[in-house]
Amino acid sequence: MSTPQSLLIRHAEIILPNSESMIGDVLTQGRQIVQVGQEITNATPTHVIDAQGLTLLPGVIDPQVHFREPGLEHKEDLFTASCACAKGGVTSFLEMPNTRPLTINQSALDDKLQRAAQKCLVNYGFFIGATADNLPDLLSAQPTPGIKIFMGSMHGDLLVSQEETLEAIFAQGSRLIAVHAEDQARIKERKLEFAGITDLAIHSQIQDNLAALLATQLALKLSKKYQRRLHILHMSTAEEAELLREDKPSWVTAEVTPQHLLLNTNAYATIGSLAQMNPPLRSPHDNEVLWQALRDGIIDFIATDHAPHTLEEKAQTYPNTPSGMPGVETSLPLMLTAAMDGKCTVAQVVQWMSKAVAVAYGIANKGEITPGYDADLVLVDLKNYREVKREEVVSKCGWSSFEGWNLTGWPVTTIVGGEIVYDHGRLNTQVRGQALTFS
Ligand code: DOR
Repeated sequence: MSTPQSLLIRHAEIILPNSESMIGDVLTQGRQIVQVGQEITNATPTHVIDAQGLTLLPGVIDPQVHFREPGLEHKEDLFTASCACAKGGVTSFLEMPNTRPLTINQSALDDKLQRAAQKCLVNYGFFIGATADNLPDLLSAQPTPGIKIFMGSMHGDLLVSQEETLEAIFAQGSRLIAVHAEDQARIKERKLEFAGITDLAIHSQIQDNLAALLATQLALKLSKKYQRRLHILHMSTAEEAELLREDKPSWVTAEVTPQHLLLNTNAYATIGSLAQMNPPLRSPHDNEVLWQALRDGIIDFIATDHAPHTLEEKAQTYPNTPSGMPGVETSLPLMLTAAMDGKCTVAQVVQWMSKAVAVAYGIANKGEITPGYDADLVLVDLKNYREVKREEVVSKCGWSSFEGWNLTGWPVTTIVGGEIVYDHGRLNTQVRGQALTFS
């Protein structure tokens, strides 16, 4: 029998659960953190990492990604996506059901779990998607972080836009419901109103702030009626943030993407369709209100909504250009750069990208650097800056909306379950993550 690997990470700046930091050592044994201290001298590790000058964070848990397998592997697959995660310091992800076939029953969920066990370098969980008629599957599917509802901005079976159908889902069962909140009726109406316009900037006007607000209001109303655990995915507008500031029941959480904090409608002029996503980018005012809501705890955490498309697909003319952008490789450096710019603290980034996600989804023993917790860790370099370069993108799509941005906080070493999966630019593709469980 082989002895489980033991890592000793020495002289790192460690971000502790109380948000303070300390220069010290972390010892892992097998998949777990076993000791955290100023100087660990009594260990016989199999591997020592000199982390002098680097900062040690819990691995990022990205709670909203679209990894395209099965069915859309020309855009991305679970192997390439999980390589991109490892490079970006993302040690766990929660993936969405709009793959082919749709993840709307136990067999599709089991298929994804099997694929992930074979291919994923990091830990994984998969949402079950709601349709108008799969309530029994929504109630019984396991393991899953929750039910995903596309209230708008989707076509086919995953679109659930009618209030009665939504209400039937909110009324039964107790598991978390995560909503893509855009009002389909308003989007449809405005598509007709602006038909024929190919200027990409119209995208943010068709799927406007009101479309997002109307759907969030409806989801909130239903959640309150049934006291049903609700999570609002990629909240994008000042109006929704203000709504939650006034009225946020204790069982409701919300997330925001780095792109809704850092990009706005000005990006259409510079990066064109690489700025197109749903819900769309908003104004600089929305950016600022979302930042404040995040700092104030109105928004609970960060997700990337990693949604890769090929450059060929993105090169079409609006409205044929697909919505979505990749995110797992850049989310942590983007947020840490914002921290270095004074927008927030590094400890807040840890809270928003690890701890709060683990708490919201009931993922045990992740999101903290504490003995007994899983050894999912990322060592980042907060001293140097490096540009986002297209040729360095690992995601199969091969581009980033942040190309040319000069960022700090790049992962140097990523550790999943006590194994080094990424180190100084090199991936260890032998490492495999595990299926997450949710309470
Ligand atoms: O822009 C988006 N693209 N938003 C979504 O919610 C879906 C995603 C995709 O799957 O392409």
